[in-house]
Amino acid sequence: MQTLLTINNLCKSYRRSSGLFSSNLQSAYQDINFSLEKGKTLSIIGESGSGKSTLVQTIAGLRTQTSGEIYLKGKALSSLSLQERCKSIRMIFHAPSSSLNPKATIGRILTAPLQLNSNLTAIERDKQIKETLSLVGLLPDYLAFYPNMLSNVQQHQVALARAMILEPDIIIADEILAGLDISLRFKLINLLLNIQDKKEVSYIIVAHNMNLVRHISDHLIVMHEGKIVENDLTENVYNAPQSSKTKNLLQSHQPDYRK
Ligand SMILES: Nc1ncnc2c1ncn2[C@@H]1O[C@H](COP(=O)(O)OP(=O)(O)O)[C@@H](O)[C@H]1O
Ligand SMILES: [Mg+2]
Repeated sequence: MQTLLTINNLCKSYRRSSGLFSSNLQSAYQDINFSLEKGKTLSIIGESGSGKSTLVQTIAGLRTQTSGEIYLKGKALSSLSLQERCKSIRMIFHAPSSSLNPKATIGRILTAPLQLNSNLTAIERDKQIKETLSLVGLLPDYLAFYPNMLSNVQQHQVALARAMILEPDIIIADEILAGLDISLRFKLINLLLNIQDKKEVSYIIVAHNMNLVRHISDHLIVMHEGKIVENDLTENVYNAPQSSKTKNLLQSHQPDYRK
């Protein structure tokens, strides 16, 4: 088993003003430790405000930690170039309609990361784009379309294609299943599983409903007020939750849960 990502004592705090001349230090997350293996899925669950988004945005390089370190294949993330980080860890967001440039065709959206982060020729780029579109289940015809011509799920497929185009090690998905009806959720979940099967990519999936991610997660982390209160294999968390917060989450998302 190859460990891809190791999070070591990661903490983030920020100053919050509490008056005209005063501010106090607030913590977004603290003492975060976990690791992720190649081809595996880790889900991070917790109520709103528990620090999930801030944490995964730090892993994706969109924010910086106050202390601690993130290691990717044994190397400190802070020692890697932006290009190396971008190639390895990609993030997809809750609302693809707002993360995809409405003025760019799908072809343009998928070409940009290759132009910025690879040395591929135009012909090689074209091949990579067509292969990636097929990986996410879209026909090449879509290359000429604009995002607003697509359905919500097709926009998610494009966002996934954009994330996969550089063949990353890790994809981070923050609440992408929220707001989708049940059949679309299953479609997206099946797509994620399919891609993982073919490409051995690892996922970090942020969700607030435990049952949504139960069948796709190898590992589960539960966060509460910026701290990890549970960190175990998914089945262990479901069968023998250790933290009262986990038990509450299980109960609130599964009315017939008995314990
Ligand atoms: N730069 C910042 N300035 C002020 N508050 C922040 C900042 N970053 C995070 N927070 C706060 O940190 C907490 C965690 O937020 P977030 O990571 O969005 O949680 P979640 O994704 O679990 O809902 C929230 O209380 C949020 O308001
Ligand atoms: Mg969030």
